[in-house]
Amino acid sequence: MLPQLDPDLVATLADIRGREGSVLVLTGAGISAESGIPTFRGPEGYWTVGSKHYYPEDLATQAAFARDPRLVWHWYLYRLGSCHGAQPNPGHLALVELDRAIGARFSLVTQNVDGLHLRAGNTRERTFEIHGNIDYMRCATSCTAELHRMPSGIEVRDCDGTLSDAIFEQLRCPRCQGLARPHVLWFDEYYDDIYFYWSQSVALANECDVCIAIGTSGATNLPSRIGEIVVNRGVPLIDVNPIDGPFGEFAERSGGHVVRGPAGQWLPAIVAGLV
Ligand code: OAD
Repeated sequence: MLPQLDPDLVATLADIRGREGSVLVLTGAGISAESGIPTFRGPEGYWTVGSKHYYPEDLATQAAFARDPRLVWHWYLYRLGSCHGAQPNPGHLALVELDRAIGARFSLVTQNVDGLHLRAGNTRERTFEIHGNIDYMRCATSCTAELHRMPSGIEVRDCDGTLSDAIFEQLRCPRCQGLARPHVLWFDEYYDDIYFYWSQSVALANECDVCIAIGTSGATNLPSRIGEIVVNRGVPLIDVNPIDGPFGEFAERSGGHVVRGPAGQWLPAIVAGLV
């Protein structure tokens, strides 16, 4: 049985459904928490726990990769293993249902690099992975802009181990044979339109009739921009998160709604209100 939504939220969803409005969904690490993938800033989060040898936030940079590519790759191959071991949860599946039901009126901007939305079945053309996808690598010196699927079977299990030569040698650009890098956005890099969909995401924020923000702490630039645009347009923002944060504030300022609980529990009910 679906949990009962607040009547005001039910009315907002019915209004969007009735006028066939566009729905922009913005997801963060929280939606994948119920699939067993750690968030970044939660108690078990990647940026909170760290490892024996490094503080990961220092590692997710172009500078760290230039200094020690083997160390940086090791950490991404460890995370790749966590992502491959995870399955989509009811929150992901609810978004697939919404995508199928409303088609072109649906768009999904995700900060997650785990690829779970696409694996669950969301439409690629309507899914904007604004921080990249850990299943892909690209040339570290940009000989082309092409993305290459990661070689199979190279995940590592131990967060603190050392990457073998045999694995490191496979992390090469198939075009120029130079070093490849993970297809993710690093802290000392900027959003762009080719890989990270800045303009496309801003346009979606300017066009949507409702924005549903799920499981994000609002710590990054483009998601905050989306929240501000939505608030300034007076379009309702719905924040789905067990705890309060910047998107809870956006929800209040937009005249939207807060749903304080786990995405897997509440998203099926929200989607039922929209289709
Ligand atoms: P954070 O780890 O900063 O925040 C995760 C959010 O998910 C928190 O607000 C939690 O309260 C919430 N949460 C936890 N469990 C949840 C659940 N079951 N349902 C719904 N929400 C839940 O992760 P992000 O906001 O995604 O960027 O972090 C943004 C970016 O910071 C990441 O994409 C990553 C990181 O640096 C890059 O690597 C470029």
